[in-house]
Amino acid sequence: MAKKTPIPELKHLDHVLVSETAIKRRIGVLADQINRTYRGKDLTVIAIVNGALIFTADLLRQLRTPLRLDCIRASSYHTGTQATGKPVIVDNLKLDISGHHVLLVDDILDTGNTLSAVRELIIAKGAASVRTCVLLDKKARRLVPFEAEHVGFEIPNEFVVGYGLDFNERYRNLPCIGVLKSKYYAPKL
Ligand code: IMP
Ligand code: MG
Repeated sequence: MAKKTPIPELKHLDHVLVSETAIKRRIGVLADQINRTYRGKDLTVIAIVNGALIFTADLLRQLRTPLRLDCIRASSYHTGTQATGKPVIVDNLKLDISGHHVLLVDDILDTGNTLSAVRELIIAKGAASVRTCVLLDKKARRLVPFEAEHVGFEIPNEFVVGYGLDFNERYRNLPCIGVLKSKYYAPKL
């Protein structure tokens, strides 16, 4: 069998926290939960991009319920790896969600600021119900109370990249979740 070409950025990782195989397997379990929850119901999935892009793409292909997909963008001001203050929600939803069941999907639940703001917006638009699915949950970092109904992995308080998550917009294309080597955090002089 031909050898797989190595993905260059993997060498930037100090260690892999969640492997590609583990992600794939866990998404199967999450999809089973979600399929059970929404069986016979019409679902609208709202992905918070860019971070949730890859997770959503893989999750949706395992969902067996009829669904619609829309995206919303949220941005926080960042200093290095720390988000500061309230996120700005760019509300460019194309679908009418009034009276619809909404599943919000994001890459990571960190301080909880983003998901609680987006959730409030969805409720204000009259959704019939809102549930949340995140790939990663960094419970230790919570600043506002928020629990996701569907969680892929609880992770320790480390800054992670890959599978949609970025550091300065890089590393989103890694197939796994990993912790960057500290030298890649160092500011360039
Ligand atoms: P919040 O702090 O829960 O509002 O999360 C805001 C956003 O910060 C998430 O949607 C991610 O895009 C980003 N974020 C939080 N923790 C990490 C991390 O460890 N790596 C990469 N991005 C992160
Ligand atoms: Mg994000």
